[in-house]
Amino acid sequence: MNIAEAKEILAGTFSFTVDDTDRVIQELNLPGDAKILDVGTGVGNLAITLALHGYRVLTGEPADDDSIYAKQEWHANAERVGVDHLIEFKAFDAKDMPFEDDTFDAIFFLGTFHHVEEDFRARVLEECVRTSRAKALICLFEPNQTCLNMIKELDPTHPEGADPTENAGHLPLASRKIEGGMFDAYIFEK
Ligand SMILES: C[S@@+](CC[C@H](N)C(=O)[O-])C[C@H]1O[C@@H](n2cnc3c(N)ncnc32)[C@H](O)[C@@H]1O
Repeated sequence: MNIAEAKEILAGTFSFTVDDTDRVIQELNLPGDAKILDVGTGVGNLAITLALHGYRVLTGEPADDDSIYAKQEWHANAERVGVDHLIEFKAFDAKDMPFEDDTFDAIFFLGTFHHVEEDFRARVLEECVRTSRAKALICLFEPNQTCLNMIKELDPTHPEGADPTENAGHLPLASRKIEGGMFDAYIFEK
């Protein structure tokens, strides 16, 4: 199924994330067999978009997250667009990832990093560096102000967006930013 068809079927939040994430995924042009981690499963928007590109994705969120953003219907959404077989779920906390060193070629976050408490954001990026391979990409999509204004109408308690470069200064990473209509992508390369 192509992205446009999936957008019609899933609608909802998929429609307002997919244009930005799809553009960046195309630009990154990862190899088809890339080992990919998606941090913060939510409703599965990013894992599904990656899977629609043919990638296998490991996705997860903390087992003890009882917020409205966790334990969502990601699997049913993936089934509706025929990519559930490409997505595997494992509960984990990004502050202490249960993965070996040098495991992933790319680690993605969509709307997740600002949900991590500020004091632990540097630690999460350190875990990304540890668990990713040489030359890996770490790509964090964070909501811009237009997107935050929309989200806050539904959830006034929602945290502000984060700029991950503020937590990455001590790490051996090159960074660049791609601005989107709703989500900016902060891309770090090892
Ligand atoms: C708004 S949702 C993300 C949406 C999702 N990425 C998508 O594509 O639909 C925020 C996610 O961050 C996750 N999260 C919050 N703190 C986390 C942590 N320390 N480690 C991993 N995931 C975390 C939540 O459990 C939730 O799944």
